[in-house]
Amino acid sequence: MESSTTTKKITPYISEMAEGLVGSEIIKLANEINEKVRSGEKIYNLTIGDFNPEIFPIPEDFKNEIKLAYENGKTNYPAANGIIELRRAVTDLLFTHGGLEYGENEILIAGGGRPLIYAIYQALLDPGDTVIFPVPSWNNNHYCHLCGAVPLPIHTCAETNFMLTAEDIQPHIEKTSLISLCSPLNPTGTTFSKEGLEGICDLIVNENKQRDGNKKPVYLLYDQIYWQLTFGDTVHYNPVNLRPEMRNYTIFVDGMSKAYAATGVRVGWGFGPEKVINKMRAIIGHLGAWAPKAEQVAAANFLKKDEVVDSFLEDFKHRIEQRLSAFYKGFKTLKSLGHNVDAIAPQAALYLTVKIDIQGLRTKEGKVLENTADITRYLLDEAKIALVPFYAFGTDESSRWYRLSVGTTAMQELESFFDSLQNAITKLS
Ligand SMILES: Cc1ncc(COP(=O)(O)O)c(C=O)c1O
Repeated sequence: MESSTTTKKITPYISEMAEGLVGSEIIKLANEINEKVRSGEKIYNLTIGDFNPEIFPIPEDFKNEIKLAYENGKTNYPAANGIIELRRAVTDLLFTHGGLEYGENEILIAGGGRPLIYAIYQALLDPGDTVIFPVPSWNNNHYCHLCGAVPLPIHTCAETNFMLTAEDIQPHIEKTSLISLCSPLNPTGTTFSKEGLEGICDLIVNENKQRDGNKKPVYLLYDQIYWQLTFGDTVHYNPVNLRPEMRNYTIFVDGMSKAYAATGVRVGWGFGPEKVINKMRAIIGHLGAWAPKAEQVAAANFLKKDEVVDSFLEDFKHRIEQRLSAFYKGFKTLKSLGHNVDAIAPQAALYLTVKIDIQGLRTKEGKVLENTADITRYLLDEAKIALVPFYAFGTDESSRWYRLSVGTTAMQELESFFDSLQNAITKLS
């Protein structure tokens, strides 16, 4: 006789949306790495898009302002769109450092960049609407899933520094409601050129002229959370300065997480057309995803001190760039020695794009490295090096490109990192 459990139809007990939600690939990898670290292995963990606070602490002044805000009892609910002092400080920062003129009512404060991205998707999209985003890119697939939008990922390539172009978007724009772009880009650390971004803006402006109010416009989510971390000659461009008509269609994502090493502090801001911002405020309000009041007070006081902010950024950027350049040079040296590795010159953020193409080679135990998953595992087991393969950012699994993040790297580790990598590669036949 069959048991009742095998014949009984299983009733789903959670929503289809929740059932279909996939976890972050990076977090899965992080769990494996943590297990190795717990068992005493020394791992060069370059997977995390975060900072080690012992190497990259938040600005001292900001930390003191946070303490002071708690001491002064700033612990009740903040205003729904963020305290006015912080919105004013953001207005000034955007103007003085970014040449952008946004008023206090066009700015929304939230608990970091993530709730803002979620609110943008929810405020602009109906279920079934199409969203264009590049791959590799960060988390757009998950935000589409959360709001029932149809993802339209477009694959980019090393030749364009993995940045989307107007030509890539053009065939699909008619059926699109939102284009989600990020510059500087996570995972590549590369940025839009002026011409590249202008081309995309022109496409959007023209498409919206055609729609002429008969259809929702195509909007642009412009995630510039890394914009203050550009290096060398790299200039950060934004759609609104390049094409003022883009102001009606662009919603920016920005904040303190990356530029001030403050990922755990949770202060972000979005800005854009007041009507959209007001709807996002309602969504953030229902979630309660505000930035904590004391952190808002502290951020306002800190951001007002131009000299303190600039001197922090100067030193912080210098130390990130030092690491990115050293890794870049190291990969180029290995390449010049005949190894099948490469790297793209760093432009911004805390990421370097590197290629490790050792597919088809055989380990000394006789195992052939068949695919990127095998390569990633070999690097972790043999070289003790952990990197995030681009397929965690949506590319197909044949991509040999990886994200290398320097936010947890101590400079003295660099030499042994390359010894370990070269050693592991040389062992292959
Ligand atoms: C491109 C991009 N946007 C937004 C965020 C979100 O940042 P936050 O920690 O402020 O939520 C991240 C975080 O990694 C990111 O990489």
